[in-house]
Amino acid sequence: MTANISSAVSPGKLILLGEHAVVYGKPAVAIAIDRSFKCTVEKSNRMTLNGNPISLDYHPHVKTILKTHGIESLALTTESTIPATSGLGSSAALSSSLSAAVRKLAGEKIDKEEIANEAFNAEYVAQGRASPLDTSCCTNGKGISLNCPDNMGEHLWTISKESNTWNISEIHVPEMTFVIGYTGIKAPTGPLVEKVRRYRARNTFAADIINEIGDVTLEGMKAIDKNDVEQLGRIMTKDHKLLSILGVSCNELNKLVNASLDYSYGAKLTGSGGGGSMVALTDKPKEVCDTIRLHGGEPFVVKTNVEGVHVI
Ligand code: PMV
Repeated sequence: MTANISSAVSPGKLILLGEHAVVYGKPAVAIAIDRSFKCTVEKSNRMTLNGNPISLDYHPHVKTILKTHGIESLALTTESTIPATSGLGSSAALSSSLSAAVRKLAGEKIDKEEIANEAFNAEYVAQGRASPLDTSCCTNGKGISLNCPDNMGEHLWTISKESNTWNISEIHVPEMTFVIGYTGIKAPTGPLVEKVRRYRARNTFAADIINEIGDVTLEGMKAIDKNDVEQLGRIMTKDHKLLSILGVSCNELNKLVNASLDYSYGAKLTGSGGGGSMVALTDKPKEVCDTIRLHGGEPFVVKTNVEGVHVI
């Protein structure tokens, strides 16, 4: 029997290592966090968002997912504790939770691999280019790696697009304390991904940096495996420097990263950059929160190891 209304929730995520380079098939690590996005969908012959009529042409993620299920309209209600366009996965969590809620509404099975594929496709269409890092993390929860060595983690699924293939695995991330610093600057992902694409297309130096981010990420995975927080912190900071050279950081992010380093093992921007958020790995969360606030950011400590998408 199909229901008339259903809801699903997906967590947000932080990218620990490898953003941007992962778009070109390099390895990356992301962790689900205790911020979430909830979609409630109800059968309706008018397309509405939070009670207001909308055109799907302005909501590409929603449009792609509804089209996949042959649905022309429904009443969609969203609730989120993930700041939008902050690098913390709000659009991936929207896509993943919407896919699960629509599946429940249509009486289809709730299959995480299918949801991850569908959410990735929605991101790809909306962004023009994307990796399945965010969408697989929000769907699976916990910690995930893309294209890590075979002996690290449990294989979940494989996703391919054009010339890239990503092997996605669940990895064990030991208890660690992460503080997020949100710059308050809204930075959509698509233009930053496009900026890196253009840089890489005209400059072999950019391709070298992308390769180096891949190498650094592999070192970071080994540090996670050994629960070596000091080494992981150093690698995060190195990754931030490489991302800055790639042109995706900004003064506000650099200010929060540098300030946090006094009390952290390491810190870096997280997500596409250009604003959005940074993350610090620390055992002094109070001091990191204070310094982030002092430098104009909005800090919050996140819990990790949270579960992935689920229907409620
Ligand atoms: O800023 P976010 O949360 O959308 O993260 C994007 C991560 C990128 O590597 C920059 C793009 C991608 O699709 O992997």
